[in-house]
Amino acid sequence: MYDSNPTLEGIKTIDEAKQGNVLFKEHWQESSVPGGKKFYIESYGCQMNFSDSEIVASILNDVGYSPTRNVEESDLILINTCSIREKAEETVRKRLRFFESIKKQRPGTKVGVLGCMAERLKKQWLEEEKLVDLVVGPDAYRDLPNLIGGAEEGHRLINVLLSREETYADINPVRLESNGITAFISIMRGCDNMCSFCVVPFTRGRERSRDPFSILAEATGLFENGYREVTLLGQNVDSFKWENPETGERVNFANLLEMTALIHPNLRVRFSTSHPKDMTDDVLHVMAKYDNICKYIHLPVQSGNSRVLEMMNRTYDRPWYEDRIEAIRRILPDAAVSSDIITGFCSETEEEHRDTLNIVEWANFSMSYMFFYSERPGTLAARKYADDIPEEVKKRRLNEIIRLQNAVSLRHNQADIGKTFNVLIEGNSRKSDLDFCGRNTQNKMMVFPKKEGLKPGDYALVRVKDATSATLLGEIV
Ligand code: 5AD
Ligand code: SF4
Repeated sequence: MYDSNPTLEGIKTIDEAKQGNVLFKEHWQESSVPGGKKFYIESYGCQMNFSDSEIVASILNDVGYSPTRNVEESDLILINTCSIREKAEETVRKRLRFFESIKKQRPGTKVGVLGCMAERLKKQWLEEEKLVDLVVGPDAYRDLPNLIGGAEEGHRLINVLLSREETYADINPVRLESNGITAFISIMRGCDNMCSFCVVPFTRGRERSRDPFSILAEATGLFENGYREVTLLGQNVDSFKWENPETGERVNFANLLEMTALIHPNLRVRFSTSHPKDMTDDVLHVMAKYDNICKYIHLPVQSGNSRVLEMMNRTYDRPWYEDRIEAIRRILPDAAVSSDIITGFCSETEEEHRDTLNIVEWANFSMSYMFFYSERPGTLAARKYADDIPEEVKKRRLNEIIRLQNAVSLRHNQADIGKTFNVLIEGNSRKSDLDFCGRNTQNKMMVFPKKEGLKPGDYALVRVKDATSATLLGEIV
């Protein structure tokens, strides 16, 4: 039996997006070795988790497991989990009840819990959940073949060792949920910040950066295979740092961004997530220099009030955040900025809440991911502060923020009516096969009627005719 008691250091906020998205989508090709085994994987939480599932798929492919979309025919069911808020964990528990019914029909099927909930709850899984055969933390995926072998012999196994070195740099991810045009590249793992609300230090460990040459090789390979956009992914990309052990040469995030942009002018480069305390003007100047670096920055503010920011241990105050926004406006006048916001953090007053409303307006965020505070066991805030804002107050404040952000987003988008943008066509729009969809440099989704001769992966100049708070509607010029 594997077990570990890793040092729980470091912290991080993540760019969380889609809760509960299942990995397999249209463009992914099922393939199988005759007589080979099949695995089914579902991912929850942030983009980093989706990216990790592609590393897991690659490791499993190498030992003869091919992916399937059909859970009922799988020999191995994996669920890559998220711990960021209580609700995310509840969703995973519900899915496990469903997998239990599958396992009853196919008793040989093994079930593995991966990712942040595996790391957070460790051995508890094997004690509490009879159906779980494997518990594997985010730094232990190379051990999967070995653990699966043990599970096939009837053992229930766990490896939740965190690492200071693992970056999976040499593993070529199997693109599971791909449109063939845009891809995520993980450039670092873990986080060394100490935001008091965040569970990530306990689940993803210390921050480490990946060898930049393996990142460039992955991006180049994607471009050669028809991809036209890469998003460099990390919990805090601005603190990317790497030193060549032989030459002592150093690479920071601004350098990495520039090297990636130089691969090809037709390869767009995005990145996420930036931390206000680390985002330098150097990065902004590199963004200004290259047309193919998209003019969009996800810069989570969390709160608009300096006292709350201090309690959150974000290590910046409101004037610092405002200064970063002003630097963006100065150096990149056309950039869009988006944010993450938490309402109802410990002891937050109505007046402090109004400061958050007011920074949404002041910063003119193009959009935000908005949450009410969910206390996570073991975090700094859980140990130091009372979770004392009643749930209905947290939710009311959240609704006020959402309502305001929607209005600000609508205004932001309406200001684009009449402008023309270069759009990378990603595919058909969700609503109609007669329309394409794609993003502009500011990461705004645009929908427009198709035109003969254009296909996904091409760029098109599109003029905005109308706007909602989420989408720009246009036509090719
Ligand atoms: N409660 C609510 N939201 C949280 N986030 C992180 N931890 C918590 C928590 N305990 C939010 C932050 C972060 C985003 C990914 O999730 O806004 O930036
Ligand atoms: Fe991603 Fe883990 Fe954070 Fe969830 S808790 S959003 S899986 S890093």
